[in-house]
Amino acid sequence: MKKGVFIVLEGPDRSGKSTQAELLKSWLEKEHGRKVLLTREPGGTYLSEQIRKILLDPKSHIEPMTELFLYETARIKHTLERIIPALKAGKVIVSDRYTLSSTAYQGYGRGLDLKTVETLNRIATLDLKPDLTIVFDIPDKAFAQREKTRPGRDRIERASDAFRRRVNRAYKLLAKRPGVTRVDAGRSIEAIQDDIRARVARLLRKK
Ligand code: ADP
Ligand code: TYD
Repeated sequence: MKKGVFIVLEGPDRSGKSTQAELLKSWLEKEHGRKVLLTREPGGTYLSEQIRKILLDPKSHIEPMTELFLYETARIKHTLERIIPALKAGKVIVSDRYTLSSTAYQGYGRGLDLKTVETLNRIATLDLKPDLTIVFDIPDKAFAQREKTRPGRDRIERASDAFRRRVNRAYKLLAKRPGVTRVDAGRSIEAIQDDIRARVARLLRKK
């Protein structure tokens, strides 16, 4: 049986992750004959999707530490119920967001202690690490254009510009970590997909 592979797409809101995730899934299925689990955080299981609704509801009042725990709770369930079984079954998992989101949004964005965030990340994942995390780096100009066509609506997207800037800056830093690679997400959908495929192909060769 083929070995399971865990790929995570990360980056600011509306940087194009879900568009690319769908394209990556069909390429992996058609060109590599792989079984693919396409999933997302917060979400991926019934319980985690329920938590997602609470987290994204603009009517929810959630303090930063409560927010962190809710994301981590959704993550434990997702990891246990979907990711680990899919890895054991030899699938390729493509997840729209994982632990780096908590580091960027709750750590750098909300200002929670980074060590606390990373400790909870480790607990919630049972120390499972993605094989590759791809950070979508979106230039401010391209982001402003997307904001015009589809303004943010959920609770996180409605947070202040300063919060969003902190998150964007954090991703630029986090993209330099081992196991993390950056793509320029300000280009055409096709150009970004080509880049992603090249990096994933390299990973599959190594596995
Ligand atoms: P995310 O999953 O990161 O929130 P989406 O894939 O939903 O991002 O894309 C956000 C919006 O930007 C959508 O309206 C999508 O059609 C559009 N979009 C995605 N990729 C690009 C791109 N490379 N150039 C321009 N617009 C894009
Ligand atoms: P989603 O609509 O999936 O993001 P996107 O707009 O990128 O498609 O919404 C998830 C939101 O939750 C997004 O604003 C990022 C945020 N988030 C955190 O703050 N911490 C986390 O750990 C995760 C997984 C997401």
